[in-house]
Amino acid sequence: MVEYKIPVIAGDGIGPEVIAEGKRVIDAVSEVENFDVKWIDYPFGADHYIETGELLPEDALKELSKCRVIYLGAVGDPRVKPGILELGIILRLRFYFDQYISMRPVTLLESVWTPIKDKTPGDIDFTVIRENTEDFYIGVGGKIRKGRTQAALEIARSLYDVKLGLDITSDAEEAAYQIGLITREGARRVIRYAFELAKKKGKNRVTSVDKANVLSHMYGLWRDVFKGVAKDYPDIETEFDFVDAITMWFVKNPERYQVVVAPNLFGDIITDLGAMIQGGLGVAPGANINPRGTSMFEPIHGSAPKYRGMNRANPIATIWAGGMMLDHLGETRASERIEKAIRIVLKEGKVRTHDLGGSSKTSEVGDAIAKKVKSEL
Ligand code: NAD
Ligand code: IPM
Ligand code: MN
Repeated sequence: MVEYKIPVIAGDGIGPEVIAEGKRVIDAVSEVENFDVKWIDYPFGADHYIETGELLPEDALKELSKCRVIYLGAVGDPRVKPGILELGIILRLRFYFDQYISMRPVTLLESVWTPIKDKTPGDIDFTVIRENTEDFYIGVGGKIRKGRTQAALEIARSLYDVKLGLDITSDAEEAAYQIGLITREGARRVIRYAFELAKKKGKNRVTSVDKANVLSHMYGLWRDVFKGVAKDYPDIETEFDFVDAITMWFVKNPERYQVVVAPNLFGDIITDLGAMIQGGLGVAPGANINPRGTSMFEPIHGSAPKYRGMNRANPIATIWAGGMMLDHLGETRASERIEKAIRIVLKEGKVRTHDLGGSSKTSEVGDAIAKKVKSEL
């Protein structure tokens, strides 16, 4: 029987609670579909950092690199200054493993309430592909390839010397700047992935998100690359939406969207909005993919510290991300089984957490889905 070694970083806040349910559902489906999972738990997160000062050591990264997938809960804790855990763990993983594709489905399931009036499941069903290694995320402790680091430095120098021409050190007050970087190679690989996904899923439109009307250097290049890649897919319609406008269109006409490809920061922002229109962060899964390396699967929500230890958080986003993880491993039937079980449990409506208007506990939802995956579907 095939056995998968899956490293798990449950993390902080509600992370351990939702991950426990994700594991339970995967264990259940593995019995039906005849494979074994060996979970390898890692302690990284706030408690470990506070106790030891350690975030994510190099030898752990080396171990993780032997696995095809990582299952992640959430990281972030009010006891630790914002950024330390997020950059030191999540972004470190995404950058170290060059997980350049962030895939975030926005799918409204039956019997889930959307705040958008008169929209039904068929109307909200698209995928956001978020670039995951560049843009304004580069300078923040991530490890990137040397050529691209060099590019970032060049931009920093030209900004300082040519554009601003300021002697910042003589200023009594501080100044801060953050460098964004888009490379042709970085944009091309993720945009191509978006078009390939559209082709595979039989979708006929890919939408690019940018702010080329203002940040014309970076997003002008992004747009240029998009136009180039689009030429290879003559049957797929394309369009450009500015990021501010797309937030409006997601609410007004979500049915327009099929595959949306966005630079890193805009992709981060619009996927929380995407989550909201599909029923909330509790039901929004995500994948960080390197097609030839180690990929990572997680809910797109954070550690929601206010619900920590209350058995109240919705585990569906994490369970669904677990399904995406099995699909990535080639366990397509198991993945479909999980998605189907989620759909049925939601449709039946008997077991649902507070965010979906119910009163069930995290573990009750996990239990119901685990039972369902084992039943005739
Ligand atoms: P958050 O996503 O943790 O929570 C925002 C709100 O969404 C919560 O207060 C809650 O009302 C709701 N929510 C989120 N997940 C839910 C679930 N499973 N069930 C029910 N309701 C849920 O965002 P935040 O409060 O901005 O961030 C908290 C911490 O998490 C911060 O430290 C942040 O940096 C971190 N964070 C981590 C990740 C990650 O690990 N990938 C992602 C986003 C935020
Ligand atoms: C997400 C989160 C992360 C991001 C943070 C916590 C580093 O918001 O996964 O969407 O900005 O990508
Ligand atoms: Mn986010």
